[in-house]
Amino acid sequence: MPRLSAATQHRVTFTLNGRTVSLDAQPRLLATDALRHGLGATGTHVGCEHGVCGACTIQIDGQPARACLTLAVQLEGKEVTTVEGLAPERDRLSVMQAAFRRHHALQCGFCTAGILVSLDAYLREEPSPSEQELREVLSGHLCRCTGYTQMIRAALEAAACLRGEPLPQTLEPADV
Ligand code: FES
Ligand code: FES
Repeated sequence: MPRLSAATQHRVTFTLNGRTVSLDAQPRLLATDALRHGLGATGTHVGCEHGVCGACTIQIDGQPARACLTLAVQLEGKEVTTVEGLAPERDRLSVMQAAFRRHHALQCGFCTAGILVSLDAYLREEPSPSEQELREVLSGHLCRCTGYTQMIRAALEAAACLRGEPLPQTLEPADV
């Protein structure tokens, strides 16, 4: 990356959830602030701001990354996905989001955006995860109010659904 002047605003252009976006950023601007305040993508949450809690997790070129440890200028030319980009349509949940809802895998939802983003990236690489592997994915995220059991259940069910396996009969197709 070329040397950047600390006081100067730099034009940063990248793809956010399939749409090309641009904003002016000083080199010290964090990706969290660029996304939330610069672009209105407030689904990316800010908790610890030092890489521990996972609430700010986004995907950069398909890989999970802590937005609080990423500078906005590092997003130049990248494909960025936030929780807003996971659902197939504006008023439809993704398979994983629907499973989280069915299994009551969230309460306040503060941690949820980052968890969904991490699980989405992981299932792309490993469509048949074991419970232990999912626990390892979730170990990078702190949840203070729901606990992890329901999240694991939801993730296992969503993975099965994405593999095309039949859902339990108790589920309505509209829930998927
Ligand atoms: S806010 Fe980024 S890891 Fe906690
Ligand atoms: S649902 Fe509240 S912190 Fe996880």
